[in-house]
Parts: sequence; structure tokens; C-alpha cells
Amino acid sequence: MIRLHRHEAAILSLGCWMVMCCISFATCDDVLMLPNVRTTLDDCHLRFHKLTALSAVKPIFGIPAVLKEFAHMGAIGWTESDGTISWRCGGTLIWYNFVMTAAHCAIDSNGRQPDVVRFGDLNIYSSEDDEFAQQLSISEIVRHPEHRFAAHYHDIALIKLEKNVSITDVVAPACLWTDNEVRFKVLEAAGWGRTGFAQEQTPVLLKVSLKPINNTECSSFYSKYSDRRLRKGLQDHHICAVDEKMDTCEGDSGGPLQIKLMHNGRVTPFIVGLTSFGTVCGSASPGVYTKVSSYHDWIVDTMKKHGASVDKSIFNATFCALRFVHVREFEDSVITHKSDNYTSVDTDLRHMFISSMPSHLVKLAWRAEGHENCYGVVIDEVTVLTVAQCAAFNGQPVTHILFLGTNEMNVSMVHIHPNYIEGSGYSNIAILSLEQLLPLAYIQPTCIWHDHNVRYEKTYVFGFGRADINRIFSPGEINSSIAILRPLVTFKNSSTCIISTNFTDRLRKGLASEHICTGNDFFLVPKSCELMIGGPIDDEIGIANNLYPLTIGLNQFGRDCGFGEHSVAIGLASHVDWMKTVLLKNYDVGGSSLQFLDPDLHLGDSCISDEGKKAQCVVASTCSRKWNQFLSARNINFCSSTSVICCPLEDIENDIEMHPDIATCPDIVRNLGYTVENGSLVMIGWMDNTTIDFRCMGTIITKSLILTTASCIGLKVPSFVQLLALNESEPNLREVESRLIHSGYNFTDNSNDIALVRLRQPLEWNFSVFPSCLWTNRTHTPLVLSMVYPHGIDPIVMLDQLVIAMYNSDCQRALNSTLHDSQICARYPGFISSCVYAPTVLQWYRHDSVQFVIGLASVDLECGYWDYMLFTRVSSFINWIGQAIVD
Ligand SMILES: *[C@@H]1O[C@H](CO)[C@@H](O)[C@H](O)[C@H]1NC(C)=O
Ligand SMILES: *[C@@H]1O[C@H](CO)[C@@H](O)[C@H](O)[C@H]1NC(C)=O
Ligand SMILES: *[C@@H]1O[C@H](CO)[C@@H](O)[C@H](O)[C@H]1NC(C)=O
Ligand SMILES: *[C@@H]1O[C@H](CO)[C@@H](O)[C@H](O)[C@H]1NC(C)=O
Ligand SMILES: *[C@@H]1O[C@H](CO)[C@@H](O)[C@H](O)[C@H]1NC(C)=O
Ligand SMILES: *[C@@H]1O[C@H](CO)[C@@H](O)[C@H](O)[C@H]1NC(C)=O
Ligand SMILES: *[C@@H]1O[C@H](CO)[C@@H](O)[C@H](O)[C@H]1NC(C)=O
Ligand SMILES: *[C@@H]1O[C@H](CO)[C@@H](O)[C@H](O)[C@H]1NC(C)=O
Ligand SMILES: *[C@@H]1O[C@H](CO)[C@@H](O)[C@H](O)[C@H]1NC(C)=O
Repeated sequence: MIRLHRHEAAILSLGCWMVMCCISFATCDDVLMLPNVRTTLDDCHLRFHKLTALSAVKPIFGIPAVLKEFAHMGAIGWTESDGTISWRCGGTLIWYNFVMTAAHCAIDSNGRQPDVVRFGDLNIYSSEDDEFAQQLSISEIVRHPEHRFAAHYHDIALIKLEKNVSITDVVAPACLWTDNEVRFKVLEAAGWGRTGFAQEQTPVLLKVSLKPINNTECSSFYSKYSDRRLRKGLQDHHICAVDEKMDTCEGDSGGPLQIKLMHNGRVTPFIVGLTSFGTVCGSASPGVYTKVSSYHDWIVDTMKKHGASVDKSIFNATFCALRFVHVREFEDSVITHKSDNYTSVDTDLRHMFISSMPSHLVKLAWRAEGHENCYGVVIDEVTVLTVAQCAAFNGQPVTHILFLGTNEMNVSMVHIHPNYIEGSGYSNIAILSLEQLLPLAYIQPTCIWHDHNVRYEKTYVFGFGRADINRIFSPGEINSSIAILRPLVTFKNSSTCIISTNFTDRLRKGLASEHICTGNDFFLVPKSCELMIGGPIDDEIGIANNLYPLTIGLNQFGRDCGFGEHSVAIGLASHVDWMKTVLLKNYDVGGSSLQFLDPDLHLGDSCISDEGKKAQCVVASTCSRKWNQFLSARNINFCSSTSVICCPLEDIENDIEMHPDIATCPDIVRNLGYTVENGSLVMIGWMDNTTIDFRCMGTIITKSLILTTASCIGLKVPSFVQLLALNESEPNLREVESRLIHSGYNFTDNSNDIALVRLRQPLEWNFSVFPSCLWTNRTHTPLVLSMVYPHGIDPIVMLDQLVIAMYNSDCQRALNSTLHDSQICARYPGFISSCVYAPTVLQWYRHDSVQFVIGLASVDLECGYWDYMLFTRVSSFINWIGQAIVD
């Protein structure tokens, strides 16, 4: 099993995949073999096999973009007597006609107020890029009432412009970061600052990355004793940030300290602070900024008092980000090409997708009060995996799940990992068993990630959040409906994983190998994505030309879906052994025999028996000598489960009396070269007065023997066999001599439903009359099979339906009677309700056109009654057939 990243898988599914080339799905599917006994959880591609492949289409289109990055930056200017303008401060456009700046920018050293603000111009002293610039007059300046020019406190002011700016790509208001908690690791400052001590202002807007530091650390640079303007020391409304590279000087006075937050595939600048003081160039001393969140109420009130018709939620992050979304820059990842006047964008490369709820993702629910945010993944029709923290609420176990929207299914049992301690992030996994079967016609269960090592760079997680702030197409409208989100995240390792302090007490021992950390290093607009707890780290796996959902881990915690600070999941690969003890019958038998169980050995593998003999892993029922030893409490070696025994080769009860016609059958057919369809099939008929009633079907297996079912043949010897392939030169009716019914045939439970019909004259092989070879492998069965059945009377037409073999253990869940090992069950590809018309032969066409008979059915199933079809498993009767040939 090879894990592919989604995009690779989609591309590869169109061509060659690994060592085999899939020209059509048939050539790929025919190599898939289903073990007769389930011993692994790494088999979802067999259990939930799909017949079609997917492919992806990526729209790529160009969207014109211009100089947008500093659309909110204004230069604040003083008109000199000669008509020139001195630009001495920076400001941030926060509304159509309001600019936020530092209070100390309200007058210059001569006591004069600024009179103009200029936007949309990167180079304020040149007329080169003026076509986008907007210069507006200042009508009022409002300093914070507690600001004093002699102190470094409350250094904030609002400037009202004479008229509204025109919103364009390069002139648009910023949003405000209104939360007191600032957990960003990197902030940006921008301004037409000086590039060196005492240098002239640089003409072009500069941007610098800064690291926020806490006020305790910052105070060591700004002692209240050394600066009279900081008599009360640094206050809560100060925020410090340091330029670790020390390469440039950041920021004009009044200019913004900002973070760009992602939403709708774009980024909007949120202003965290205003440049107030500090910033001695060439030193590592931090700049000190006025913290905007401390002034939210004053800003809104002041705007209102000065004529803005705004309400309290004007700076709500969601509404603010949506307000000018059309003019915002795209997030970096979607930009495929950037030039001065054009940006090309491939929105498929974005980090946030709105998705429908995949069918394998279910919500956990309680009849009474319960968790609001708990999810799980369906791994088969009766099993859901989730995190242990979600398995109960105040001691009340989860009562049901909601699948495919609002459908309910009760949980019958909760298995919590035995090492889980409540509140901790270790062994945080649980298995839920369901009371009834989920409809697999509508649910594609997920595969379980088994690989500890192979990790691709990116993956997907699930969250939910408002649709409006997340969608990429036609954004801007307010729409408070909650959407399912599918963020694209990057795998982190223990040194790059950033865990929010909110969750560190869950991981007292740090990240362990069972944890998977994912996320992105940039932040989202707050409250736009909440991680689904218990939801999957989700990918797809490409197997034999198909893509299957794949769950790598289940998320335990993470803020903002792992954006900015990362999220931590419990990895499934680390818990496969525990899951097997719950999910595979007899996997953990306990007691002394457990030490002889080797989970790496699967059906058909070579092994060494407890007596040191060369051996092979076989189904327990084909190694009765050893099995009886085990039953009499003697130690034997098991392979992956107690239904698979490491059986010495001489003890394997297999094909001992195999007749040459059976053993050489594939060669006989191959040597015929060209063969026609249905040349090995016959109808079996009874002479009824003047007509022949063909009511049974069989397959030719030797020159004189036809294989069929006991239930169809009944007690009366048939009269004729009709060859089905048309060949004008030969008679197609052949006389029957006798019939042989299996002595163990039980018509109550249909066990041993097998029979042979012997012809009076042997057949001659040719391209239209040849044997169907018996499937003799007792451990594996081809996965994709053909179910062939007759339709009509004169002429009889053979219909052919692809079906998929199933584990008996899966099939058993849907059946009231006990399935025997000597039966095999199959399903329609889509798990739709289906019916079997007797008589039916289950065949497999190998790529070299040799066909094998796998199963026989004779019992009609009521159509639409259940999903699975039962057949007699031919490989279980090889010895019986061999004996019959000899007799
Ligand atoms: C400025 O824009 C705001 C918001 O659209 C609007 O309410 C106000 O009327 C505009 N003012 C002028 C003078 O156009
Ligand atoms: C401030 O930051 C320093 C250095 O990172 C750290 O040691 C200290 O604990 C922090 N103080 C507070 C109150 O967070
Ligand atoms: C913004 O307003 C919405 C709707 O009232 C609310 O759900 C959301 O929590 C607010 N966002 C923030 C960051 O407070
Ligand atoms: C970009 O602008 C330049 C100068 O105006 C122009 O020559 C060029 O054609 C433009 N490029 C595109 C892709 O429009
Ligand atoms: C995380 O912790 C911060 C401060 O420690 C608090 O403000 C915030 O509400 C917490 N968030 C969550 C999601 O618990
Ligand atoms: C065949 O003949 C028997 C006796 O003559 C008669 O009872 C029976 O109904 C006939 N069957 C058919 C199918 O005609
Ligand atoms: C036939 O099968 C039924 C159901 O499993 C069982 O009760 C009965 O004993 C079987 N009959 C014989 C003869 O084995
Ligand atoms: C049965 O098939 C499996 C899978 O193809 C193979 O590994 C095994 O060797 C086969 N067993 C026999 C006895 O041929
Ligand atoms: C199995 O038994 C249950 C209860 O007796 C019944 O409702 C159901 O129809 C049966 N299913 C089948 C496939 O026989």
C-alpha cells in the first residue's frame, strides 16, 4: 500500500501507478486478492472496493492585481509655505474618512497640525506611480483625552478626512485587532521610515518583520528611571516588538504594527498597534507601540461623535474582513505569478476549502446534555473511531451518532483505550460499536493509516465556521450559516509544532510518537474556523487506480483549525494493535498462547511451526491436526490471528488428490489460444414429456464432469446438458449419465450445496468447449468477480454482473444464520440492494483469459432484501471434487 498525496494520486490514476500500468480498471482490479479470513485493518481498499477512479480538474485564471499591500497606509503631511508637503508621520485608514495615528503626530515640533493624508502611493516624493494616489485634506484631529505630549501614554489619535476615500485596490481601510490576547509570533510594521540613523526619509514604503515581546522583557530597555516620559513604566496599552534582524529601522510614528489574517483565500491587515516610540536603529531594542485593542471603545465612540454612522460591531473581525474582501490581496499560496500590474491566481492552491461533510465523518450525540463538538470516522458499517475525550460527557457515554446529516444510529458499546487518563492527550482514542448496520450504499468508510514513517508535506483536517468568511467565490455577502471547512495544513514535527498555552497541560510529557501535529504558520481571521474534535486528519489513498478516504489521525485540540498555533491529533498507526484487539475476532486470545501470535504473518506467508518445521499460514480449518492441539490446550504458533495457524506444510489439508484435469486446467485453456465467452458454461435440463426444462446451470470442469449445486439438481437425475457457446458443427445437447450430491448437503442452511453431473460421453476440448478451472487457493479469493446467470428461455442469454467478494466476517453482520467457511459472499459494487437469481456461477477472468469458478449459487434471494449474496465456495470442495473424479 502506497500513500499518495491527493494531487499525485489524481494524476497517477490517469496513467501508470507504481510498477503496474493500469490500462483499464480491469487490469488493475484483477490483481487484488481478498484473504478468506480477515487478519488486518489495512484492507479498506478490499472491503470497500470501488470500481471507478476519480480525477481532478484545476481551474486556473488570471485576476488583475495592483499595488495592494499597503492599501491602508497613509502618509500624513504638513503643507509648507512654499507649497511643498513634508511627510512626517504615518497613519492607518480605518474607515472611509477616518485615519488612526499616534497622538504625538497631531502637531509637529513647531506646533503646527498636519493638513493632508495621501494614500495609494508607494513613493511619496516621486510622481511616478501617482495614478492610483488619493490625497485628502484633514478636517479634524482628535487626540486621546489622556494623552500628554510630555509622556508616552495613550499615544493615539483619530484624523477625520474632509471627504471619503474611494475604495480601490490600493486604498482600503484596515481592520483592528480588538482582542487583548496577542498570540502572533511575527508582526509587520511598515512606513516611510528612515533607513539609518539621521538619514533622510526613504522615499519608498518599507516593510519589516518584528517579533512581539512581553512588557516585562521590554521594560529592561525602557526603564522608568532613564526616560522621564515613562514615569509609570510600560502599561497594558503598550505593546513591544523587536526587529531581530536589526537590518532596518521600522515604522514611521503613527504607522501600523499589523498582522495579515487569512480569510476567503485572501489576507486582510489587522492593526495590532501604532508606532509610538523607541526604535534606535542598529540596536536590538524593541519598538513600543500603542496597543489598539485597549482603545477599541474610544475609537468607535469618537468616530460616532464625529459623524460616522457606525455601530459597535464595525470592527468585529468577521464583518470587517468581509467589508472590503474584493480589494484584498490573495493569500500567498494561490498566487502563481506576480508582476507589477498582474497577479495570476490558482484558487485550488488555497488553504481553506468549504466542503460537504464526507460520508465517513459522523457527529457524536447524546440524548441528554453532551459535547457540542465531537466527531468520529466510520471505518466499517458498525464501527466508528473517535478520541477518548469524546466518548463520554460528565460520565455519560455517547448515545448515538448522526450520519449523512441528521440520520441517527445508536451506539451499543464504547471501547476506550485502556491507557487513557481523562483530560490527557495520551492514548486519546476510542472505538464505538453501533447497534445496527450503516448503509454502505451511501457511506464510503475510511481507510486507517498504518504507516509510521511515510509522511507527505500537506494534509487536510476538518473544521467548521461561517460560510461567508471562508468561501472563495462571490465573497462579501454576509451569510452567517455554518459551513464544513477543510483546511489544507502542513505536517509539523516536535520542533516546529507550536502548541497553544491553552492546551499545554494536556501534554505534560510533551509530544509523543503517537501524536501528529499539523497546521499553518499564518493566522486566520479569528472565529472563522473551529477544529472538529475527533475529526480526521484526512487524506486519500490511491490503490489500484482508485482513491479511498484515508484517516491518518483524529484531532484532539487546536485553535483556529491549527492556523497560527497548531493542532495535535492522535495518530492511528500507533494504535493499530489495540484496535485489532477490539475489532478482529480472537486477535488477542490472552493466556499463554498469545506469545505465539505474530501479527506480521498473514495468510499464505511462510513461517516456522512450533516444532521448527517449514510451514505456511493457513486458515485454522485446513490444519486440523494443529487446531486440535490448540483445543487440547497445547501451544501452537498462530499467525496474525487465532484463526490463522502456522501449519507445517505436510499438515495442510489441501489438494492432496487433485486430479490432473484440475491441476493442469489453466494450461489446457491457455493452450487452446482463442476461446469464446461462456464456452465452459452449460444449462442442465430434465426431459419433461416433449420439452426439456433447463432449470440448472453448471460449469464444465473435466471432460465428463459438470459442477453445479445440490439444491438445484435435487433428487431426480437430469437428462441433458446444453453447451452454451454456439458452434454449428457440434451438437449442443449431451446426455447425462449420473449425478453426485454432496453427502453433507443441508437444505436448511445450504451448507455443502454442491453436486456433480457426469456425462455419458466425454467432451472434446476446442475453442467453444473448454473447462472452467477450479479456484484451488484456500487462503485467498480474487476480489472482483463476475456473477453469470441465465436470462430468458429460447434463446437463453447469459448476463454478467461484476460483484465484489467480501469477508465472511463482514457479511455475517447482515445475516441471521451462521455463515460457513465453505460459503463465500459477495456484494454489488455500490452496496445497493441486490438479488441473486438461481442458478448463478461466480467466475473470475484472469488477465490471460483463463476463467476460474469461484462460487455457485442456487438459492434465489428476494430482490431488494439485503445487500449480500451467498455462494458455495468452490475452493473448500477441491478434495471432494478430486475424490469424485477418481471414483
Ligand atoms: C462616506 O461613506 C460612508 C459609508 O459608506 C457613508 O455612510 C457616508 O455617507 C459617506 N460620506 C460621504 C460624504 O459621502
Ligand atoms: C516574558 O518573556 C520572557 C522571555 O521570553 C519570559 O521569560 C517571561 O516568562 C515572560 N513573562 C511573562 C509575564 O509572560
Ligand atoms: C463577530 O460577530 C459575530 C456575529 O455576531 C460573532 O459570532 C463573532 O463572535 C464576532 N467575532 C468576534 C471576533 O468577536
Ligand atoms: C503591465 O503594464 C505595462 C506598463 O503599463 C504594460 O506594458 C504591460 O503590457 C502590462 N502587462 C499586462 C500583463 O497587462
Ligand atoms: C486561551 O487562553 C487565553 C488566555 O490564556 C484566553 O484568553 C482564551 O480564551 C483561551 N482560548 C480558548 C479557546 O480556550
Ligand atoms: C407430462 O405428462 C404427464 C403425464 O402424461 C402429465 O401429468 C404432466 O402434466 C405433463 N407435463 C407437462 C409439463 O406437460
Ligand atoms: C442442517 O442445518 C441446521 C441449521 O444449521 C441444523 O440445525 C441441522 O442440524 C443441520 N442438519 C444436519 C443433518 O446436519
Ligand atoms: C493463494 O493466493 C495468495 C494471494 O495471491 C498467494 O499469496 C498464496 O501463495 C496462494 N496460495 C496458494 C496455495 O497458492
Ligand atoms: C433477521 O432477524 C430479524 C429479527 O428476527 C428480522 O427482522 C430480519 O428481517 C432478519 N434478517 C434476515 C436477513 O433474515
